[in-house]
Amino acid sequence: MNDYLRELMAARRAAPKDDILTELVRACDRRELTGQEVFSMVFLLLIGGHETTVNLLGTATLALLHHPDQLAWLRAHPEAMPMAVDEFLRYESPVSMATLRFTKEPVTVDGVEIPADELVLVSLGAANRDPDRFPEPDRLILERNDPGHLAFGQGPHRCLGAFLGKLESEVALCGLLDRFPHIEPAADEKTLPWRNTIMLRGLESLPVSVHG
Ligand code: HEM
Repeated sequence: MNDYLRELMAARRAAPKDDILTELVRACDRRELTGQEVFSMVFLLLIGGHETTVNLLGTATLALLHHPDQLAWLRAHPEAMPMAVDEFLRYESPVSMATLRFTKEPVTVDGVEIPADELVLVSLGAANRDPDRFPEPDRLILERNDPGHLAFGQGPHRCLGAFLGKLESEVALCGLLDRFPHIEPAADEKTLPWRNTIMLRGLESLPVSVHG
């Protein structure tokens, strides 16, 4: 990955394009950003901007296959896709664990004191299934109409690409349902390969049969 990204940056330096990578490389050459900062940003944009949306497309499709009534409802109400995408984000949050936080001073959360200098892991996936916040949290309810989930994080580091990620997912899922009137699972549920990481929630692959 390191080699790939460095080659990509060198290629833009040699042959600039009208894209964000070229702008970042130029900022580096103007010494507005260090090479390490540009490298980290490109890495973040690639992983944070690609892997997350890809994971959501897989888990949303799987959720629809598990809930044929919801799939039928969505086919009948394609205009509800933006609302449905919020429910997919809540139901299977692609970033299940936020990036690491550290306490600078003691913090009390719900009566529990976390001392200073502790590492804190925030489970966005668990928050999005909190029964005190979302009634029947383990059910996929596309009409839930509650965009107050934490799938994009919260605070100063809330996802910079939230609108883009949602839009991409809406376009892709609408395209899938439009193009294929019949979609069925083509593999045993128990054999589905989930990504082996605690931070991201997604499938390695989702075999389906499509007709029509
Ligand atoms: C469905 C798709 C997406 C999901 C679920 C998602 C989720 C998240 C989450 C949870 C965070 C905060 C992490 C934390 O606080 O530790 C985050 C940050 C970020 N995301 Fe996304 N993301 C998505 C799509 C995108 C896209 C399309 C882009 C850009 C092309 C993007 C760029 C970023 C960036 C740059 C940050 C860091 C913001 C900061 O630290 O200030 N994301 N994302």
